[in-house]
Amino acid sequence: MRNLAQNQDEELSKIFKVQYYEAVCNLGVKYVTKIILNILKNSGAWELLLQRYFSASKLMNKLNYVSDRIYAFEWMLRFLVNNEHLTTQHEKDNCLYKTRIKDPEINIDELRSSILDIDRNLLPSCEYMEFISGYYTDFFQGKIGGHEILFVKDKMRLWNEYFSNENSGYAVYNQLGALGIKKWVPEIIKDITFFEIGTGTGNASLLALNQLETSGLNDRVKNYILSDISPIFLRLSKLNISENYRGNIPVLIKKIDFNEPLIKQDISFKDIHVIYGVNVLHIAKDLLFSLKELYNILNPGGMLVISECIREKPSDTLVQEIIFNLLDSYTSVKLSETYRTTPGFLTLDEWIKVFKCAGFDNIDYVINNGLVDCDKVKNCPMHAMVLRGIKK
Ligand SMILES: C[S@@+](CC[C@H](N)C(=O)[O-])C[C@H]1O[C@@H](n2cnc3c(N)ncnc32)[C@H](O)[C@@H]1O
Repeated sequence: MRNLAQNQDEELSKIFKVQYYEAVCNLGVKYVTKIILNILKNSGAWELLLQRYFSASKLMNKLNYVSDRIYAFEWMLRFLVNNEHLTTQHEKDNCLYKTRIKDPEINIDELRSSILDIDRNLLPSCEYMEFISGYYTDFFQGKIGGHEILFVKDKMRLWNEYFSNENSGYAVYNQLGALGIKKWVPEIIKDITFFEIGTGTGNASLLALNQLETSGLNDRVKNYILSDISPIFLRLSKLNISENYRGNIPVLIKKIDFNEPLIKQDISFKDIHVIYGVNVLHIAKDLLFSLKELYNILNPGGMLVISECIREKPSDTLVQEIIFNLLDSYTSVKLSETYRTTPGFLTLDEWIKVFKCAGFDNIDYVINNGLVDCDKVKNCPMHAMVLRGIKK
């Protein structure tokens, strides 16, 4: 007889296919390595790293880079250390970086072709990464801000395509989130109010709504609230749902900032049973504060379900961070020794700790661990998690 774990593994394998690990995790790491090498070579940083050991701040000084962009700059150096292009030495509290590789071979076109040969639907990820890489030197010199690079005017097209369910580099998080909904939401009996935070383009919402339909939960869902801090994203998600969702769950729109007290934001919908977010909460300025706020607006027995990219170790550098490191909201967050040691993505262990600190109980999760043979697919542990916590 089949057991639940077998079913779950099968469903996970449909989301995280071997091609995903080969293209995104294995070749994707090489691809981002090449992008970073290009940026460092073109700016003269590589020449300096060949000569002697530098701390990130000394190197930035030499290149006339502005000091408040140090997180993104040092992340690039750490990425190259993790992928064996730089060596390190420690001097007091400083990490120093150097290279011995004079002329790293850079053929980004070949790598992109290999990635697209495996999966054509990774084009939006490749296009987006190459697009932003052209702005990085200006960003480090303080000539342009991350928001301007990512969001102004026609750049929204690339952002939209990146977060689309057609982009296999990103859609896995929306699909994993939908799996969490299928697994846990049936525990709630009736008249469910579903509240999604950081709805963005509405692609996670679309899969969530479709999942509620296919799980036969649509008659139990009173309404589904799409929320975001950004009016542009609210417009985009509303349009996406009205064009693509064919079911009968009433969808409402609400502007919400989860960095601010929720009670002041006219949350008249008191009976919230499910709060949902895909790759959103890691950007909360003060994560514990936001989680407690969300906890407070849930009905007893209600749940918070999040799908998130996770690090295996806090020191991991993940390919998509080359995009998100441009944003202050990703890098400037409150850190904690206990539950949040790095900006951006957390580890599974950190998520469990911070959920518990906020009061959540009965924590359960699914991660894409052990699905493929890591000896065959190098660099395979690119992890994703869907996790839920219940209000006591
Ligand atoms: C990575 S995107 C989420 C993508 C989304 N799940 C999708 O399917 O497109 C993060 C979203 O969180 C929103 N966001 C950022 N800070 C926020 C805040 N303080 N409160 C609410 N939403 C926020 C952003 O506007 C953005 O739409």
